[in-house]
Amino acid sequence: MTLRQAQGRQEVFNDSPSPLLQLTFIGKQFGGLSALSDVSLHIRRGEIYGLIGPNGAGKTTLFNVITGLYQPSAGEFQFNATRYQTAKPHVLARAGIARTFQNIRLFANLTALENVMIGCHVRTNAGVFGALLRNLNTRVEERAITERARELLRYVGIEKPAQTLAKHLSYGEQRRLEIARALATDPLLLALDEPAAGMNATETESLKVLLQAIRSSGITVLLIEHDVKLIMGLCDRVAVLDYGRKIAEGVPDEVRNDSAVIAAYLGQETPSSSPHNKVRQSVSSQGLDGIDTGGGRGVPGGSAATLTHGGGND
Ligand SMILES: Nc1ncnc2c1ncn2[C@@H]1O[C@H](COP(=O)(O)OP(=O)(O)O)[C@@H](O)[C@H]1O
Ligand SMILES: [Mg+2]
Repeated sequence: MTLRQAQGRQEVFNDSPSPLLQLTFIGKQFGGLSALSDVSLHIRRGEIYGLIGPNGAGKTTLFNVITGLYQPSAGEFQFNATRYQTAKPHVLARAGIARTFQNIRLFANLTALENVMIGCHVRTNAGVFGALLRNLNTRVEERAITERARELLRYVGIEKPAQTLAKHLSYGEQRRLEIARALATDPLLLALDEPAAGMNATETESLKVLLQAIRSSGITVLLIEHDVKLIMGLCDRVAVLDYGRKIAEGVPDEVRNDSAVIAAYLGQETPSSSPHNKVRQSVSSQGLDGIDTGGGRGVPGGSAATLTHGGGND
């Protein structure tokens, strides 16, 4: 899809009243653990929607459900007016959901170009196996794909040669390469799991510009991120998960000062009885901006022993 096509698509989005993604009472159990409980939310076409919450809150699990890696234990979701309870990843990819991973998943020994071309194959007739057999039709298709993949590398701002092995790209470039590969599937919804993790301030700022450009091109963005400044400066609306439940949702200003959200990040049920009461009061006066949401529960910055419930699996 060219950017012009994407812009045309955005006009269609703006005329359409139905949300792009609607989750209805989604639950996900792992044995006795409820990773998600009764999560309902909707994402409008064309918006940047943020998903935050302490480590182990269920954010990545939610991504895994909507991309078909996990089957929900309860509930259903609708994407682009189609209902899903259980669906395979390739079905949801073709329907228009693309994602990146919390821990970068690239083919380290393939080139940057090849990594993006793999994403393009979601939309080709030949598919990956056809491409390997390389008959005449697939060769024509391959040329178009190569051109598109080069265009996407430029679009996400990877300046090294397209033939550079993925493993030889910098960390920030690898994150961008994952975004390019996701864009290559021609998505309606781009779901990014902590794309700024490990980036410095300059890289994060240029990521922000890229995400704004992606949204302007007509693609809806769902963003999990610990960088509060990035989330609050970028998202139209934000939802907060805690212990698998949605505890708040709203525009950034509403969410950043929500007492339940602040308490969740500080791991406190009852502020008056907590040993961290002093910390809580100082953070409350700054709202969520005073909290490093990348940490676990307990104290801002997550440096001390925390009540984190779970790991960073994806
Ligand atoms: N495949 C799995 N098997 C067992 N437990 C899991 C699995 N995936 C996630 N969990 C658990 O579900 C909870 C939510 O995890 P996750 O979605 O990774 O949280 P977040 O991304 O918000 O940090 C955690 O307690 C985690 O250990
Ligand atoms: Mg996660």
